[in-house]
Order: sequence, then structure tokens, then C-alpha cells
Amino acid sequence: MSLLLAFDDEALLARALAAALGWPLAFVERHAFPDGESRLRLPPVLPARAVLLRGLQRPNERLAELMLVAGGARELGAAELTLVAPYLGYMRQDIAFTPGEVVSQRQLGRALAAWFDAVITVDPHLHRVATMDEVVPGRRGVALGAAPLLGRLAAERVPGALLVGPDAESEQWVTVAAVAAGLEHAVCVKQRHGDRDVAVSLPLVDVAGRAVVLLDDVASTGRTLQAAARGLLERGAASVDVAVTHALFVGDALAELQAAGVRQVWSSDCVAHETNAVSVVPLLAQALRG
Ligand code: R5P
Repeated sequence: MSLLLAFDDEALLARALAAALGWPLAFVERHAFPDGESRLRLPPVLPARAVLLRGLQRPNERLAELMLVAGGARELGAAELTLVAPYLGYMRQDIAFTPGEVVSQRQLGRALAAWFDAVITVDPHLHRVATMDEVVPGRRGVALGAAPLLGRLAAERVPGALLVGPDAESEQWVTVAAVAAGLEHAVCVKQRHGDRDVAVSLPLVDVAGRAVVLLDDVASTGRTLQAAARGLLERGAASVDVAVTHALFVGDALAELQAAGVRQVWSSDCVAHETNAVSVVPLLAQALRG
């Protein structure tokens, strides 16, 4: 028997995944002490195979509890422990961009490899490191793809759309989405000058009169998509919609996108958000069954 463990702030996704798998689901009970520490409680006896669902958005808040649950689960009988992190944070810092910078992807990967036997995620931001197996050395790493789901959704909602990736890294997702959906695609070039200061150069394709769907793995401040949307509309695009796997949309991100002229925003349910339009539950269930 396998058990799915989850936190109650991801109950929607957890219930859907447990139902798809036909597995029992147990929530980690949490008490927050006044000093910021957590007391966590798991079922007192765990089966040999347990899977923990925990998205690593807001990773600084979540990592300490992840470490505690992983260690606790082992002591309670989980000989084989898998992490399903639909969004895996800290993947973008994959080199030291300036001397002395901590390579967060490497450090997080090593920690996850120490705590879990396998890590399953969706559209991780892999760029200079190619595979999830490399991220979690010596363990099984699985990268599932939501981009084809988003591509097919774009084709359904905006037939004949041009799929555009806002930067070089997005090419990997835009390409598979375009193939899955039978749409044309193009990719922009991005220069980031600061957290909210982004310049995007558009591809050399004629967008005048075209319905464009911008597609990326993650929207955080939304400034990448905003800069791309502004440029596309200035060049005469008939409409710009947005599709992302991970809807972080911090602060005013969604409002800023709408202010830039973006019409509709769709996301996968990796991160619960009002824009969720496609579900990764079947992908996760298949990966866990396989
Ligand atoms: C980076 O290359 C990612 O694919 C995203 O484009 C980026 O993280 C989005 O960040 P923001 O929404 O803050 O511009």
C-alpha cells in the first residue's frame, strides 16, 4: 500500500491526486509555535511507500518543514519516500552569476537527494543543468511537462495563435507546446536588469494582426511577460494572451499584466491560483503509478 501525504494548504490538488491514484491521503498536522517553529504530526505508522506532495513556491517558508517531515516519515516506516513538488523553487540560480554567489539549485538538489528517494516535478527551470537526475544526484529525478497541455489549451481558445516565448530559456517549453498544439512559434530575447526591470527584444516575425499567446514556465513579478506583451501589442499584435505552468504572480503581477493589455491568463494547477485552467493531476498520477 502507498500513502499520499500533503499539507492542508494544498488540499485541492492533494485530494484530486489521491482520487486519481485511488490512494489514501493523510494531511500533516501543523501547529505554529509563537516563536516561529512548527510542531508537525504524521500518521503514527506509515506504509513502506509514502509520497509527500509539497510545492516549493515560497521555499524559504516551506523548506524547514519539508526537512522535518522527510526525516519524521523515515522514522515512522517510510522506507521509500518520494517528493512531488509540482513547482520546484530555486531552480533558476544554476550558476554563480557573480563570484561568491551560492548556486541555490545545486544546494537545494543535494538537500532533496538526502531527504527523498525520488523527486517529481513539472516544467522545472532547467537551463544549464539539463535533467532532474542531475539536480538530485544519486536519486531519481522526474520532470513532467505541462507545456503541451497549455499549448493545446491555447489552440482551443485561440485557434491559429502564434505561440511566443519571452526569453531564450522558454524555447524548450514553447517548442513542445507548439508541436503538441500544431501552432507556429517564436522566441524573444530577454535582458534582466533587476527584479522588476526587464527588457525584451521581439523575434523577427511579423506579428501584425496575429493573435499571440505568450507561454513561459513561471510568472513571478510578471515583468517578463509584461515587457513581451507591450512589445507585441506595439508591433500590432491583434491580441496577447498568457499561459504559464507556474502561476506565482507575486504582488501586483496579474494587474500589471492586464494593464499592459494582456487579455486572458491561463495556468496549470501546479500552484493554486485563480488563473488555473489545466490540471497536472493526470500527469502526476501516471508518474507515480509507473
Ligand atoms: C526565467 O527565465 C523564467 O523563465 C521566467 O521568465 C522568469 O522567472 C519570470 O520572472 P518575472 O515574472 O519576475 O519576470
